[in-house]
Amino acid sequence: MSHSSPLFYCGSSSVHEAARSIVVCRDLGEKLKPLVDEKGARLEDKPAERELYWEPGRDPAHRLIDKGERLPSAKNLTNPEVKALYFERFAHHELMAVELFAWALLAFPDAPKALRRGWVKVLEDEQRHCRLYLERIDELGGTFGGDGLPDYFWRKVPTSRTGVGGVKAFLAAMGLTFEQANLDFSAGLIQKFKSMGDERSASVVQVVHDDEVTHVALASHWLQLLSEGEALKSAYEECLPFPLFPAKARGRSFQVEPRRRAGLSDTYIDWIRNVPAWREEDFDAGIRKNKRLASKGFER
Ligand SMILES: [Fe+2]
Ligand SMILES: [Fe+2]
Repeated sequence: MSHSSPLFYCGSSSVHEAARSIVVCRDLGEKLKPLVDEKGARLEDKPAERELYWEPGRDPAHRLIDKGERLPSAKNLTNPEVKALYFERFAHHELMAVELFAWALLAFPDAPKALRRGWVKVLEDEQRHCRLYLERIDELGGTFGGDGLPDYFWRKVPTSRTGVGGVKAFLAAMGLTFEQANLDFSAGLIQKFKSMGDERSASVVQVVHDDEVTHVALASHWLQLLSEGEALKSAYEECLPFPLFPAKARGRSFQVEPRRRAGLSDTYIDWIRNVPAWREEDFDAGIRKNKRLASKGFER
């Protein structure tokens, strides 16, 4: 089955309806349909009431589970079965990103129109990434799902799915933490695949990596704009909901260049590179911070 055919459209008549269908429906194919009508035109972003969802609808084979099996060491990536397992994990990250951008479109109907347009574009990129990875799994003879898939982003991003901290918390968590960290993970993998002579896998991950730069740029731009000139570091620190913390915004092989391309300043990049990992004693401060964010409700 091909996952990359552009010859489909969703049956919804607005961005809001399409976003709801992506979050609620259980069928994977439905979740990956771009937000266009049968003529290929963009869906209208009509005003709508806020809707909050605690978890996505999923087929039994793709249901969310608490913790997935640890992936085998990257040393074993020469084995196509192991490679398919890696692509399964990546494809699921992309699927969760698709659902979470749809979640944000439903949770934040009052977000600026231009930001919502940006989210629709990112959502469609995530759908494309997911389809690319699913194709790679097919090529490698693997399967997607079966015994469930780890719920990591869903557990962490909307901060217990309540939308605490509003739009800025979502930008900090999704764009500036997970997507920023993915700049490192994806760059590391591209290197790894190239060193193994697997140009096909490298080129697939490269597409994702390049798009990710633009996703980080969108989040950084809007977090600063909505923070009225506050420096990115302090806006990010203030809005990032616990249990996320800034050190989560980096991966093992720290990459400066894609961060610069995303428009992040050298001061901010240096800080992310060196910020200490979370410690036990930060727990109370984290709880206090979430209470502070919660007291602001859905404020921007
Ligand atoms: Fe992605
Ligand atoms: Fe992304």
